[in-house]
Amino acid sequence: MDREKTFIAIKPDGVQRGLVSEILGRFEQKGFKLIGLKFLTPSRELAEQHYGVHKNKPFFNGLVEFITSGPVVAMVWEGEGVIGSARKLIGSTKPLEAEPGTIRGDFAVNIGRNVIHGSDGPETASFEISLWFKDSELTNWTPSDEIWRLEN
Ligand code: RTP
Ligand code: MG
Repeated sequence: MDREKTFIAIKPDGVQRGLVSEILGRFEQKGFKLIGLKFLTPSRELAEQHYGVHKNKPFFNGLVEFITSGPVVAMVWEGEGVIGSARKLIGSTKPLEAEPGTIRGDFAVNIGRNVIHGSDGPETASFEISLWFKDSELTNWTPSDEIWRLEN
């Protein structure tokens, strides 16, 4: 399977609720590699571009207000199948439908406060990574235990 990259963001509710280390830990423990990390309050322009696909939806304004309301942890994670696997780790958009063991299943109850974002496919991942990160902000490195997680 291809080594992919995906964009993950801990939303303002996840930061305010002190869930940053818990969420980072789940991606680390799974075996994915962190290659980009920043902590910022997104501008309205960035938020509107990020959620541009939803701009005609009734929840768009509330979504942009929420995501710009405080700091978020923006990340790029790399690994085999990481785009789909991250969506599984995150769980369903509606937290009450998310399975226990997933991030939303364990830490959220409301669709508008669902703690975390993950790219939903390869094209979205490339778009979102280049929207939030410059190439020079992504770090190429080899974890010392990689041979214990990847056969080749
Ligand atoms: P995200 O983009 O934030 O990772 O979430 P997602 O792929 O699971 O869900 P998506 O359909 O892309 O929706 C983006 C975010 O919009 C909010 N939403 N509210 N009130 C509603 O009906 C509604 N639908 C979506 C959610 O916060 C969702 O995460
Ligand atoms: Mg989405």
